Amino acid sequence: WIREIYLYPEVGSTNDVARDLGDMGAPEGVAVLADAQTRGRGRAGRSWWTPPGHAIALSLLVRPRRPVADWPQLGMVAGLAAVEAVRGIGCPAGLKWPNDLMIPPVIGEVPSLAAWRKAGGILVESFPPAFAVIGIGINVNIWPEEIPPDLREILGSLSQTLGLPIPRLAVLKGLLRAFASLYLEWNAGARLVERWAAALIMLGRPVRVLTPEGACEGIAEGVDEGGGLRVRLPDGREQRFHAGEVSLRG
Ligand code: BTN
Repeated sequence: WIREIYLYPEVGSTNDVARDLGDMGAPEGVAVLADAQTRGRGRAGRSWWTPPGHAIALSLLVRPRRPVADWPQLGMVAGLAAVEAVRGIGCPAGLKWPNDLMIPPVIGEVPSLAAWRKAGGILVESFPPAFAVIGIGINVNIWPEEIPPDLREILGSLSQTLGLPIPRLAVLKGLLRAFASLYLEWNAGARLVERWAAALIMLGRPVRVLTPEGACEGIAEGVDEGGGLRVRLPDGREQRFHAGEVSLRG
């Protein structure tokens, strides 16, 4: 399914390069990879750090056949692909809603899922009705001393968890293979929401959700068709979230 890979030593953001290619009429299946990004973007207007040589920064151009209303599910396709790629090299992995790629800090006994760290993320940008750009970032060979001290408990990398350098190409191959197969399934009409929910690490657990409107705590019970998080509040009511930040409590 991948048609062409554009590989750069350094770009601002691979998502911007893929968007420009999309605007120029490039077909779906075009991939943009960069060794480093100077203006990498995360969700909610945050910046995304891609130090040279240590991470995967990938953007994929898709022109889905499915209705535009289904395009937000592209995040699920990419999240599942990232989890599959990381598990494929022998590292446990899951997703923190909506789409943070989480891994344990070490292999073996970890006291709680709350100690899992973010090793990657997904940024989908849609330009309907023509195309969407799916950005995937994975921290592959970043060591603790390279991570800013205030982020060391929060950010993880595959090399840190597995205790050895990881060939980026092995992760990338797994990622492209998993994405291509999940995307083709999804584009042909498959429902991925159950598989995506099964990859979420917080279902059935106490969580705290932060939204611009405020914070609330409850038990993460499940997700709805569109990927919204269903949280049972202490007073028994159910609340649905379509955006926000979740943290695991214990
Ligand atoms: C997040 O968790 O906030 C999403 C992070 C997405 C980062 C990737 S790296 C490749 C692509 N280019 C970007 O500028 N962002 C995405």
